[in-house]
Amino acid sequence: MNDEIYILAIETSCDDTSIAIMKNNAVLANIVSSQQIHELFGGVVPELASREHDRLIVPVLREALHKSKISLNQIDVIAYTRGPGLLGSLLVGSSFAKSLSLSLNIPLIEINHMHAHILSIFIEDNIDKPEFPFIALTVSGGHTQLVLVESPIKFTEIGTTLDDAAGEAFDKSGKILGLDYPAGPTIDKISKKGDPNRFIFAKPKVKGLNFSFSGLKTNFKNFINSKSEDFIKNNINHLCASLQHTIVEILIEKILNAQKTYGINDFVVCGGVSANSYLRQKLLYLKDSQNIKSYLPNVSYSTDNAAMIGVNAYYKFKYSIFGELSDQSISRYPV
Ligand code: KG4
Ligand code: ZN
Repeated sequence: MNDEIYILAIETSCDDTSIAIMKNNAVLANIVSSQQIHELFGGVVPELASREHDRLIVPVLREALHKSKISLNQIDVIAYTRGPGLLGSLLVGSSFAKSLSLSLNIPLIEINHMHAHILSIFIEDNIDKPEFPFIALTVSGGHTQLVLVESPIKFTEIGTTLDDAAGEAFDKSGKILGLDYPAGPTIDKISKKGDPNRFIFAKPKVKGLNFSFSGLKTNFKNFINSKSEDFIKNNINHLCASLQHTIVEILIEKILNAQKTYGINDFVVCGGVSANSYLRQKLLYLKDSQNIKSYLPNVSYSTDNAAMIGVNAYYKFKYSIFGELSDQSISRYPV
């Protein structure tokens, strides 16, 4: 294998159009264009997302090449998100990736978005990186998973959500409060001025390592509907802080459960919700109280981005795992 490879990585699984240029696991450029149009609808509109990807993908590529000072003919491999994600959005990225691979006559690597979130911890600029095996908690707008990671290519799902994802719990509850989408970052901010123990909300009784957030959402909705507008306005900080506290407690309980089940103390926490400052604070506390060491990617690699696709491709390249130009089964997620 070459000592140095240049990777062009493409991420279009949801509502962020992103292209990164990597030299091995180092980021030369990571351009993320977050689609604003969905804010008008309080959630991602799949048809609009794919149209936006189609509109943005070439300008995002131009900017990535410009920033990295790399030209297309220096690129050794094209990587793209194969799934999971919104079908129309994925198709824009996959068609674009295949066209580049074909026209530049270079290999193609297909990436599982969830694995990429986990491997984002190995992007060069993260200071602290775990040894294998470790357990990953991936908490995003679409997924909540616990994954046993034995190598950069061996992932075993050990827990998942039975209904809503953790990010959805933030976003849907935020919508009930009248907050703009995505509500997660806003709730994080507002909560800093609130009391996390002011209100008690329902926690699920799901055994083992699976998650559930829909009961909490219903409980929160019923509580808000039973209160006056003035009450909500005067207590918004406490409402956000108490909701955030409940979501984070649910996540922490499962981390402790996974530690006990697998005897592993190293955890990578990734995906959009890992940017949450209250969760980060609680994870720090786990180090002293339970000997659990958490590894968190830099915040810029926590939400959807193409650098994480690039770092995953770097490992797949090392193991010579390549994709096919003619493979049509978009529903098959790459291993
Ligand atoms: O990983 P991501 O960018 O996209 C998906 O693959 O879903 O995650 C987006 C999710 C949204 O639900 C958003 O509200 C949540 O991550 N999020 C946060 C924070 N920043 C992003 N949730 C809580 N606190 C935050 N600071
Ligand atoms: Zn994601």
